[in-house]
Amino acid sequence: MKITNICCIGAGYVGGPTMAIIADKSPHIKVTVVDLNEPRIAAWNDQDVNNIPIYEPGLSDIVARARGRNLFFSTEVDKAIDEAELIFISVNTPTKTYGTGKGMAADLKHIELCARQIAKVAKNNKIIVEKSTLPVRTAEALKSILDNTGNGVQFQILSNPEFLAEGTAVEDLLSPDRVLIGGESTPQGMEAIDSLVEVYSNWVPRERILTTNVWSSELSKLVANAFLAQRVSSINAISELCEKTEANVNEVAKAIGMDSRIGPKFLKASVGFGGSCFQKDILNLVYISKAFGLNEVADYWEQVIIMNDHQKKRFSKNIVQTLYNTVSGKKITFLGWAFKKDTNDTRESAAIYVADDLINEQAKVALYDPKVTHNQVLFDLNYLDTRSSSENEKHIVSFDSPYEACKNAHAIAILTEWDEFKDYDWKKIYDSMLKPAFVFDGRNLLNPERMKEIGFIYQAIGS
Ligand code: NAD
Ligand code: UDX
Repeated sequence: MKITNICCIGAGYVGGPTMAIIADKSPHIKVTVVDLNEPRIAAWNDQDVNNIPIYEPGLSDIVARARGRNLFFSTEVDKAIDEAELIFISVNTPTKTYGTGKGMAADLKHIELCARQIAKVAKNNKIIVEKSTLPVRTAEALKSILDNTGNGVQFQILSNPEFLAEGTAVEDLLSPDRVLIGGESTPQGMEAIDSLVEVYSNWVPRERILTTNVWSSELSKLVANAFLAQRVSSINAISELCEKTEANVNEVAKAIGMDSRIGPKFLKASVGFGGSCFQKDILNLVYISKAFGLNEVADYWEQVIIMNDHQKKRFSKNIVQTLYNTVSGKKITFLGWAFKKDTNDTRESAAIYVADDLINEQAKVALYDPKVTHNQVLFDLNYLDTRSSSENEKHIVSFDSPYEACKNAHAIAILTEWDEFKDYDWKKIYDSMLKPAFVFDGRNLLNPERMKEIGFIYQAIGS
């Protein structure tokens, strides 16, 4: 089937950018992105394209080009489902916060609601594409709901996980390492796969479009994230050993990364990985493994999370110890709150956990992040539920200027690797701080020699 009308349910970090690229590269396809969240859709439709709800370099230009031509954002979910031949489900699949599997399993309630809605509305055959990251064998559950609650029409279910990373979503979507499409090997399944392959072929070379069975595709997404996160936890584990042995983790990472079998990417030691995916997807993998009785497999992957939690904790602990075992009433300035540079996303950011620890120690946290609002910061802290929201408000203040944020601080902690932090006038910052002036560089972003020359007591990760 030649696809001319696509609907995507979920206008988030994946649905928004992915559909913008599909629309931009396929002017003959009408793409409608729908969401229940009215303010989010209104923001996608904002006259001023700089106000779209997701910050990704290059995205606003693409949206400006395609929006109103063949790219539409809407809250009319039923209408978009009805008109589409192919429907992407790109809703959130967070870790369950209740019941069986609490804290581990993926919460599939949004997925199931989508399936029921599609089944109710669809009056002709449709291809349903799992774009969300899902536990292996979810397609089975989706098919059961669609076939048992629908109007007798045929549904083909494909798995097409998304591998984009935030901050580089546009480049990742424009030239993906691979596009993965899983489907059934029946004639109808193959036909559905071909339809989606054709959509991507508008800009992705055929040899980069990989087709597999549905279960391999679903599982590959969890495995890719687990392997990536494992590399970060591996180098972070070594960073602690470096601190004890006078080895330098940057030098170790470079030395091992030059081995072509290991490769240089994803070996940057840090205060710990964050983001909405790594932790959630590994916990999901652990949960599935346990469900099959594979306890050794589960324990192996769980260690990646344990190591990451340890890395965040030891960062905050070191700040307290270094500041003479007390940060009570001290101003500690955070540079960065986002979980990585070039995004306004803060989900699972290490900054949240480090701030929580320091607030427990009665620190006064001052914050500057180029893209994160103070409301978001308070939301993130309140979400942890460690203390009342009024207590949180008393302990954290956001600034519009990094220089104001750093003035009279006892210490600065770098939590996100925003490029602009490198170019600050660090001498001016030093002069405005209380002495001794400490910098805890959780991203190994700054030049240690230069910082020490200025007079800072400078500590990085793994050296
Ligand atoms: P998100 O929270 O930014 O967006 C999801 C959107 O779906 C929300 O706006 C929500 O309102 C909407 N939604 C939920 N239920 C709905 C319903 N029944 N009808 C209409 N809209 C509904 O999430 P995200 O970051 O875009 O992630 C989506 C999926 O993609 C997740 O499964 C995630 O694991 C996966 N993923 C995310 C990334 C990433 O970098 N964020 C990368 C790869 C894969
Ligand atoms: C990740 C996967 O990379 C992507 O393929 C998937 O689709 C979604 O999950 P994302 O979470 O957006 O993407 O960003 P990523 O670049 O993977 O970084 C995740 C976290 O690991 C960030 O907090 C980052 O700062 C940290 N990280 C990454 C390190 O600490 N060191 C590294 O070497 C790499």
